[in-house]
Amino acid sequence: MSDSVSICVIGSGYVGLVAAVCFAEIGHKVICVDNNEAKIKMLNEGGVPIYEQHLPDMLAKHLNRGVEFTSDLAYGVQNSDAIFIAVGTPQGSTGSADLSYVEAVVSEIAHAMNGYKVLVEKSTVPVYTNEWVSRCMLRHGVEPGEFDVVSNPEFLREGTAIGDFLHPDRIVVGANNDRSAELLRRIYAPLSNGSYYTREDALPGMLSEHNPATLLVTSAQSAEIIKHASNAFLALKISFINAVSNLAEVVDADIEDIAAGMGLDSRIGPKFLRAGLGYGGSCFPKDVAAFYWVAQQQGINFQLLEEVRKINANQQDIFFNKVRGALWTLRGKKLAALGLSFKGDTDDIRESPALDLVRKLIDAGANVSAYDPAAMEKAEAILPPSDQLSYAFNAYEAAEGADALLILTDWKEFGRLDLQRLHQMLKFPIVIDGRNLYKPAHMVEHGFTYLSVGRPAAYTAQQGKPRKLVVS
Ligand code: NAD
Ligand code: UDX
Repeated sequence: MSDSVSICVIGSGYVGLVAAVCFAEIGHKVICVDNNEAKIKMLNEGGVPIYEQHLPDMLAKHLNRGVEFTSDLAYGVQNSDAIFIAVGTPQGSTGSADLSYVEAVVSEIAHAMNGYKVLVEKSTVPVYTNEWVSRCMLRHGVEPGEFDVVSNPEFLREGTAIGDFLHPDRIVVGANNDRSAELLRRIYAPLSNGSYYTREDALPGMLSEHNPATLLVTSAQSAEIIKHASNAFLALKISFINAVSNLAEVVDADIEDIAAGMGLDSRIGPKFLRAGLGYGGSCFPKDVAAFYWVAQQQGINFQLLEEVRKINANQQDIFFNKVRGALWTLRGKKLAALGLSFKGDTDDIRESPALDLVRKLIDAGANVSAYDPAAMEKAEAILPPSDQLSYAFNAYEAAEGADALLILTDWKEFGRLDLQRLHQMLKFPIVIDGRNLYKPAHMVEHGFTYLSVGRPAAYTAQQGKPRKLVVS
């Protein structure tokens, strides 16, 4: 393979693992390091620790060919020219990003250095982290000319991570000198010159999209801000449509039509205008908080972000009240909950609105029978089965004898349920859909009372109109 670069990726989580196999896929030699020995053992045996489309095939294709896994960080660093740091940057106590994992890794890298290397921030980090990484390297005795620090934020989404990585809207390289920018250009060349997309063994689906990915070189500070600002803006778009959905509901308008009408304006675009339970996941909540904090540290009151967060939190309360409005009391009621992951096509339950709702329902005395196609193992680990919580094998088992069915995550299979069968399984034919997966009129035709987000309630005469409760 021409112009292959030796790359070390530190962290084999949702980002690091995907980056590692994708770098191998575009022709580089990759060592992926993690300090979680069990994960490394699993990966070396061909196991995949996360649920992600295409990942098992990609791993099988490149394991011990383009990519190897180890817990020996020094080995990874000493055999690589570019070191991608992809460890977690969770929300800290003040809302700021907790950078202790990044700092720990940088200190270890410093002690393993054996020649010039480029350290790449793949993790999402606040502006000026590049300066802190440099300072940390110098404090640990590394000479200034021996390293550079580049910000190369990652924009992949879980569920479509491999496709997003290999066919990104853009690649951002925040470098403060040409030498380090050039190495990143070489690494991403197969995507930015489009040669990857013409390869016969490229990931299916990529071949039809020959457009090379745009590679944008900026300063490190700008790149760091691009990542935070992008996530905050997408979160804002979601909160905006959720706020509009609440108005739509009051005036009997339909948020799906409103979003479609807005999205047809090319300046607005149709994406990220799906109203629902609010955004969750390991990125938006923490990145909105971190970006607010970053601005605050520079004396700027970015109040808009605080509103984005509040609207998001409110969205869950509104849905919870919808459940109460449909069922009257909750204590002792059986509720079927479809979905536990923070969105469809992933097993990730971090900051999952679905899981938060299950907790709230249990606290209110309801009995919940939950089902998720991929996230049950992770959910069970933090919410074990109890008198009030059970996990079902499928959606219909969850629905058996339930007073209502709640759709909490947008898994595709939840939008294709056999409605006749569902009707038979439920004690009362009530569906409360936090993801707008069905058309209200269709649900009424099938005999359901159907409540969704930002659309008029659809109900059968027998069930009667549900009460609308206002969030206190
Ligand atoms: P993750 O928690 O899934 O993975 C982090 C990995 O780093 C874990 O496997 C952990 O064991 C490992 N690790 C921690 N300390 C280590 C050390 N000292 N040495 C070696 N390995 C170590 O996290 P993630 O979801 O992959 O996110 C990583 C970063 O990427 C975060 O900054 C996140 O904000 C950002 N990001 C995430 C996504 C996403 O969709 N998850 C998308 C874009 C950016
Ligand atoms: C996000 C960013 O999209 C990605 O660029 C970044 O790299 C990581 O964070 P991810 O968290 O994997 O990706 O999922 P995403 O598809 O963005 O969804 C985030 C949350 O927003 C989910 O809870 C989802 O259900 C919600 N969402 C998304 C909506 O409520 N409405 C929408 O229209 C889109």
